[in-house]
Amino acid sequence: MAEHLTITKGTKEEQYNFLLPQLKAMIEGESDLIANMANISAALKAQFDWLWVGFYIVKKDELVLGPFQGPIACTRIQKGKGVCGTSFEKKQTIIVQDVNQFPGHIFCSNLSLSEIVVPIMKDDFILAVLDIDSAKYSSFDETDRVYLEKIAAIVAEIW
Ligand code: SME
Repeated sequence: MAEHLTITKGTKEEQYNFLLPQLKAMIEGESDLIANMANISAALKAQFDWLWVGFYIVKKDELVLGPFQGPIACTRIQKGKGVCGTSFEKKQTIIVQDVNQFPGHIFCSNLSLSEIVVPIMKDDFILAVLDIDSAKYSSFDETDRVYLEKIAAIVAEIW
């Protein structure tokens, strides 16, 4: 496993394109899912300096907090509740430009202003969600969706 992360500057695409092969190298040869999710969270947070990056894992019919980087967070989220629970229910990526405008948004930190939640899917089954919070409004767009869905697919592969 590669244990170094090189941070780059540039456009969002350039940053993701530089990060992705490093993520793949980082998890190569490591079979432990929790260890890999922990390092993926740390690498994303280090590259983009978001407020919170982490995973919620589907257990029974709710989401339970998994590996993350950032302030302490709610430990359980019910299906259909908040941005994470909505992504879980709909099995879709959800981008929220202003969390105050999202009905039922769950405030784990009042510093969070925008958010993206990406489901981690295997066939039609949802395994977890990747949740990212930003301390700025409108941090996430279609570029994030495309690349974070690629990262979600990598996590699904090693599940
Ligand atoms: N804001 C999320 C809850 C999780 S925290 O942001 C880490 C939501 O509405 O589902």
